[in-house]
Amino acid sequence: MDSKNKSGSIETVIKENRSFPPSAPFTEKAWIHDQADFDKIWNTSQENPVHFWEQQASHLEWAEKWKTVHHWNEPFSQWFVGGKLNVASNCLDRHLEARGNKNALIWEGEDGSVRKFTYQDLHKEVCKLANALENKFNLKPGDTAAIYMPLVPEAVIAMLACARIGVAHSIVFAGFSSHSLRDRIQDAECKVVLTSDIGYRRGQVLDLQKTVREATSQCQSVRATLVFRRENKTELIENEWDWSQLTSHQSPNHRPSFFDSEHPLFFLYTSGTTGKPKGIVHSSGGYLTGVATTAKWIFDLKENDIYWCTADIGWITGHSYVVYGILANGATSVIYEGAPMHPHPGRIWELIDKHKVTILYTAPTAIRSFMRAGNEYPLKYELSSLRLLGSVGEPINPEAWMWYYEMIGKKRCPIVDTWWQTETGAILISPIPGVTTLKPGSATRPFPGIIADIVNEEGKSCAPNEGGYLVIKHPWPSMLRTIHKDPERFKEQYWSKFKGMYFTGDGAHKDENGYFWIKGRVDDVINVSGHRLGTMEIESALVSHPRVAEAAVVGRPDELKGQGIVAFVTPRDSKDKLDIKTLAQELKTHVANEIGALARPDEIKFTKTLPKTRSGKIMRRLLKDLAAGKQITGDTTTLENPGIVELIES
Ligand code: WT7
Repeated sequence: MDSKNKSGSIETVIKENRSFPPSAPFTEKAWIHDQADFDKIWNTSQENPVHFWEQQASHLEWAEKWKTVHHWNEPFSQWFVGGKLNVASNCLDRHLEARGNKNALIWEGEDGSVRKFTYQDLHKEVCKLANALENKFNLKPGDTAAIYMPLVPEAVIAMLACARIGVAHSIVFAGFSSHSLRDRIQDAECKVVLTSDIGYRRGQVLDLQKTVREATSQCQSVRATLVFRRENKTELIENEWDWSQLTSHQSPNHRPSFFDSEHPLFFLYTSGTTGKPKGIVHSSGGYLTGVATTAKWIFDLKENDIYWCTADIGWITGHSYVVYGILANGATSVIYEGAPMHPHPGRIWELIDKHKVTILYTAPTAIRSFMRAGNEYPLKYELSSLRLLGSVGEPINPEAWMWYYEMIGKKRCPIVDTWWQTETGAILISPIPGVTTLKPGSATRPFPGIIADIVNEEGKSCAPNEGGYLVIKHPWPSMLRTIHKDPERFKEQYWSKFKGMYFTGDGAHKDENGYFWIKGRVDDVINVSGHRLGTMEIESALVSHPRVAEAAVVGRPDELKGQGIVAFVTPRDSKDKLDIKTLAQELKTHVANEIGALARPDEIKFTKTLPKTRSGKIMRRLLKDLAAGKQITGDTTTLENPGIVELIES
């Protein structure tokens, strides 16, 4: 039987109820003794999640203990109220004695150069930068700083230096355009921008400093830009400072202050159902409790692990499982600047072999591209160091799951398919390696202390195998606290659809074993290669182009990326003047310039009008079917113009 037939579709796998034993030939003694032990923890945690989380929080280092574990003023949650801690010292100082000489970070560049930082080294650099930010730029607790950097150790240093001095960071993925960066800096009123002159990706040099200059020229809140210079080519202009020069004079010691558990640790902007991205606000104590606990249990972190999560720090995965959750556990985190298939398709396997990576955490889109590149690449390298594999960001199809399990994990390594969101801060649904029986395509069961369910339109629990909405029925420590400057939107978006429940925006079902199968978004958010994009955001970018009258954007199934972006556009040009090939190119570039290359539509279809209901709403369902190449079915009687969408052909 070849692996293709064996893996099949999600439907086949569900029907066959195919499962894999938790198989974990772990060498060191696990902290959970056995299945029964875990079941007990899980059951108790479902009855009393607050108690479970309190126990977990006590593993962190607190300068002052909390007075109240959880304060709930729906929908505003506070955790470990009255407690004080410093997140950076929990990630660094706490480990200096026991593992000061252990690697905290191993960085590799696309060209193969390597830089390693022990906990001692990282602590020193973070202290120097923290001192510079305080002394030179007068940053104070409660201020915000933007980070727009490639995946280099300095980006991690920047995060931890901000955390150390109580400054909330707002990281903007370095692939976003200057407009996107400007909007985010303005919204968070960042006082300082930390950047690098350039970044490298796929052999290309990205001019980050130029993007930052364009953005900050329109940001009044920014007093200074700190530039980590890798080329020393460009001259610095007014208010730009050289990172190395500035930090070299600073003391490598810094006494941390301790902040309230609820002190905001960072903002992270993510796409929603409107045109404007939301500034998700995360806390200090609750967030760190969530990420440290899940990282330890789900990745089974042990002293000698070399852990590699391929995400960029510009996304939540990078925040929680490249930096905070991993360093809080004193583990070694590998970071790689560049594309995992560059300069050759076996690059990722080469890195695993070279650094003897034991745990790999990546996204289904990446797994599908490795699979497509061919087995010869993983077969060329020694992958026996691996003992655990993870997946995140989108549903993983059983075919990709099986390939990952057999070809990469050699049937030895459990796969943790982790479901979570920017808003949840930490993983909420995932197998526990060595404990949970795996089913390819299912994120399995909620983490202890997480009360998840599938409900119908009325908010009632669905029967097994009945599709519905994924909700979380009890607050958890790492949940978002609010949307920056928009508490109303926070309420409306997450807490209004079902009373007393957090609405995730995902559709899913539970099977008869209580396993969760996540289908994907049920709102106007699309998931392209594990990255979240708002269809309205892309529409706003399109209509800002002078030749566009109207636009509607939908996702269509894509074998590699999960979803592709299709835009339906009504042009302003009259038919005789219209050159749709050139205009399509122009519009794709326009979207990339407005938002970032990741939002570039795969296809633009020009239409004479957009299908709308009599009340003027665009009928997205119909466009989705059309984009997917399906026959138009279902009820179109409410259409203003019940005719079909009239496409303009070249
Ligand atoms: C959305 C959140 C948090 C990690 C990076 C994405 C989808 C995430 C899974 C999974 C099926 C998944 C959901 C979710 N998603 N993980 N294991 N299986 N779907 O974070 O950008 O905030 O997107 O990603 O649709 O709502 P994000």
